[in-house]
Amino acid sequence: AATHNYSFVVKEASYTRLCSTKDILTVNGLFPGPTLHLRQGDTAFVHVHNKGKENITIHWHGILQPRYPWSDGPEFITQCPIMPGNSFIQKVIITEEIGTLWWHAHSDWSRATVHGAIIIYPKRGDRYPFPKPDAEIPIILGEWWKRNITDVVEEFLHNGGDPAKSDAFMINGHPGDFNSCSVVPDTFKLNVTSGKTYLLRMVNAVMNNLMFFGIANHTLTVVGTDGSYTKQLKSGYIAIAPGQTMDVLLEANQKPDHYYMAAKVYTNVTVFPYDQNTTTGIIQYLGEYNATSSPIFPNLPAADDANSTYNFTGSLKSLASPEHPVHVPENVTTNLFFTLSINNVSCEPNNTCTGPAGSRLRASVNNQSLELPQLDILQAYYNQTRGIYDPDFPHFPPFVFNYTANNLPVELRLPNISTQVLVLEYNSTVEIVFQGTNLVTGIDHPMHLHGHSFYVVGSGPQIFDNVTDPQNYNTEDPPFMNTIAVRRNGWTAIRFRANNPGVWFMHCHFERHVSWGMGMTFIVKNGTGPGEQMLPPPPDMPPC
Ligand code: C2O
Ligand code: CU
Repeated sequence: AATHNYSFVVKEASYTRLCSTKDILTVNGLFPGPTLHLRQGDTAFVHVHNKGKENITIHWHGILQPRYPWSDGPEFITQCPIMPGNSFIQKVIITEEIGTLWWHAHSDWSRATVHGAIIIYPKRGDRYPFPKPDAEIPIILGEWWKRNITDVVEEFLHNGGDPAKSDAFMINGHPGDFNSCSVVPDTFKLNVTSGKTYLLRMVNAVMNNLMFFGIANHTLTVVGTDGSYTKQLKSGYIAIAPGQTMDVLLEANQKPDHYYMAAKVYTNVTVFPYDQNTTTGIIQYLGEYNATSSPIFPNLPAADDANSTYNFTGSLKSLASPEHPVHVPENVTTNLFFTLSINNVSCEPNNTCTGPAGSRLRASVNNQSLELPQLDILQAYYNQTRGIYDPDFPHFPPFVFNYTANNLPVELRLPNISTQVLVLEYNSTVEIVFQGTNLVTGIDHPMHLHGHSFYVVGSGPQIFDNVTDPQNYNTEDPPFMNTIAVRRNGWTAIRFRANNPGVWFMHCHFERHVSWGMGMTFIVKNGTGPGEQMLPPPPDMPPC
């Protein structure tokens, strides 16, 4: 195991996309940001210097950070923001994670431009459970806004309706041939050699959309997701939730030519004015040949093709081999049932709300809509400061209703706006059933948990039936993930062992939904045995 040091200078840098130039917030002037290259068992110290104009925090998405929530990053959950001119040394502790994860800003919407890949290689001497690739390439799906992201957020919060969509999707920071505004190509190109195999390290860093991705004429082989190996899954396309990562093998086994890779939105609601643009990159075979005049375009599912999304996600399975076993908790000690809802509440004075009937939209888990506190929850917990949070987040929805019906009485739409946490005993075995609802609208929610990965043991298209549905749980080889899209008006069941003492955020990874309050916090208590307690804070925790 090695120790690495990285310097992250958060600063504005000038970038030109779609024929307009503006300053964006970056790390080290790079967009997308730098890739961290680590091995299982390594530790990295990232020296974050805020040389920008706004408060910032950085999160290591999918890294468990055992007993050390102090470096996890979510603003006002585990730390106060790093103010301009200040620095914070964050410790990134890799244990069993393997494959691709990523880091991103976790304050306001700055993750739009402040993000990058984390590649975790096997321990020295260990091998991949698949043929060794000839090269490894991060593929980061992102977005470009012509406007400043801070203005987009401000307008969105003031209007109380859906946010403005971005102006283009991008692959590795390039919008591609169909979004170009000039003759200068701004397209990501990957050169390949016939007969070689490439490991694509995919990250969905877009703000508000699930995405489809594919490469013309090439079958993709998924070998991992969310920092864990999967059984090999061959598919013509992948469906990837925001926050999710995937390891995908690409074999350069087609006629030497040039081919498009493409990514576009998947959505099954049309209320959000989603961007229908497709972003493209090019796979270019090296060598002498006559290229087709225009690259061949991949067949991606239609933008509203829910079945293609569910079939793909439902086909992901853990490797579950003797070298890479699964440890699905069998005896559940803590049963949680969480409804996920979009709500509307009355418009605040001086706002011009464009939500339904002049209202403002909120979002909630078990009818609790999160208001971030002024001081972070972790510090309040550690110092036993009162009045920052309430430890009474409900295990079940406060009232039962027909979750998938619409036109429900308005009382059901009004959430409790507060800062509630749910306290878990050390080593408790937790099952959460997420239930999608149709209060204002039904939509898939990509739910993400900090500090733990979880097994996705089941999902279904309707209201969860607690007698029959658990009979079909997969406890043999369920995928081990940190982000799972809960299908519209359906349910998903996850299990994990709460063996990481600390304070851990859980939220929808659609930025607009977490801004509306679709998030909650777990406090995992200390155990009594040796090595079962949260570690003390570092001396340089940013002050509020
Ligand atoms: Cu990728 Cu709490 O986030
Ligand atoms: Cu959501």
